Amino acid sequence: MPAVVLVGAQWGDEGKGKATDLLGGEVDFVVRYQGGNNAGHTVVIGDQKYALHLLPTGVLSPSVTPVIGNGVVIDPGVLLSEIDGLAARGISCDRLLISGSAHLIMPHHKALDKVTERYLGKAKIGTTGRGIGPAYSDKINRMGIRVQDLLDPGILAKKIEGALHDKNQILTKIYNRRGLDPAKVLAEYLAYAERLRPFIADTSLVLSQALDEGRFVLLEGGQGTLLDIDHGTYPFVTSSSPTSGGACAGSGIPPTRLTRVIGILKAYTTRVGSGPFPTELLDEQGEWLRQTGHEYGTTTGRNRRCGWFDAVIARYATRINGVTDFFLTKLDVLSGLARIPVCVAYEVDGKRHDEIPMTQTEFHHATPVYEEFPGWQEDITSAKTFDDLPPNAQAYVRALEEMSGAPISAIGVGPGRDQTVQIRSLV
Ligand code: GDP
Ligand code: IMO
Ligand code: MG
Repeated sequence: MPAVVLVGAQWGDEGKGKATDLLGGEVDFVVRYQGGNNAGHTVVIGDQKYALHLLPTGVLSPSVTPVIGNGVVIDPGVLLSEIDGLAARGISCDRLLISGSAHLIMPHHKALDKVTERYLGKAKIGTTGRGIGPAYSDKINRMGIRVQDLLDPGILAKKIEGALHDKNQILTKIYNRRGLDPAKVLAEYLAYAERLRPFIADTSLVLSQALDEGRFVLLEGGQGTLLDIDHGTYPFVTSSSPTSGGACAGSGIPPTRLTRVIGILKAYTTRVGSGPFPTELLDEQGEWLRQTGHEYGTTTGRNRRCGWFDAVIARYATRINGVTDFFLTKLDVLSGLARIPVCVAYEVDGKRHDEIPMTQTEFHHATPVYEEFPGWQEDITSAKTFDDLPPNAQAYVRALEEMSGAPISAIGVGPGRDQTVQIRSLV
């Protein structure tokens, strides 16, 4: 009964989509357990590129049952267009299961996400504008509307009316925006209900039974450890728990059933949106990483902020998630550098920190302490085994492994499904 969690070890966009896809041939269920369509998971199969936002990456593997767990927030319009988009490319989503307990992103959540960001001005979080924060706020505030409400038009009508009674006041009186018409929203969501009805299930029960039968469940995280609402760089985080603990709450699988935690770790660091980022490079080296690594957002198209590898963060991710294996991605991007700096600790007001400082204020003032490693000039995009890598690339990987505190079991050397150096099995 293997239940493996796959989590982003940095600030998202580490290559979780590719890693999940790679395991797709070996697993029975792939479950999204948090986040929503703020995620953008890219998979490249042959000459085809797929960008998945709400659907678990497992949908691309015909033998996998994709599951959207209770911890996800779902924008039904986006989900249906994603399903239709894949169908047009010959990929069926008929096997999809959606938890009846997952919360819905409503039009007022998207309106509020955009308007609150605008009002924050310079202090904005830089959200994806998809309504994620407001939908999770309502969930925690016990005012959310859930997928199962779509099955009961009377309840749905009441809940939409109740929600808009409040939210229209906020939109019109505080933010000077137009209110939303409950009848229109109801009609829109009833149309979604018709199409989504066949997918709605008690997914926690399905997964529990699957594990009892010895089936293989992979839990695919969105975002990353440093974007976690509790363990990330608050308030510059997302509104859910991408870390491995969140995988249990967001799927209904108990912690005692998890067998492995795979951390996805980029060979350098990127971040989208605002917030502290000690190794960020604001010079031509940062621009070089952005262009060489194609670091532009899958969801919003924004430039990703780029910097060197941060071993303090990697160690933190190992500790918070209980990482058993790392999948190191994008090593190929670093080919051609003479020397590669790695942040091994921080300095804050003259004092060395080997761990992330306790307060956000200190973290904002942290400057990296770098150690430099010799680079390599060879193209490594067709490497298949660890021995195929140049000695300096091998040494870089070994050093990262040592500093991060968990074994690196696979290495990405290109975006393609087959561009992976497997060191030991991940399943
Ligand atoms: P995710 O959100 O963690 O799934 O990551 P994204 O898909 O947003 O961003 C990762 C990007 O890197 C995608 O464009 C992938 O196709 C690409 N990618 C993944 N692994 C590798 C790798 O090992 N090398 C290279 N060059 N690109 C990779
Ligand atoms: P994947 O799954 C990178 C960031 C946003 C913003 C903050 C809050 O592709 O790795 P939100 O819309 O969630 O309220 O925005 O979180 N963010 C991501 N950054 N990758 C993601 O997903 C992200 N999802 C959200 O840029 O800083
Ligand atoms: Mg992404």
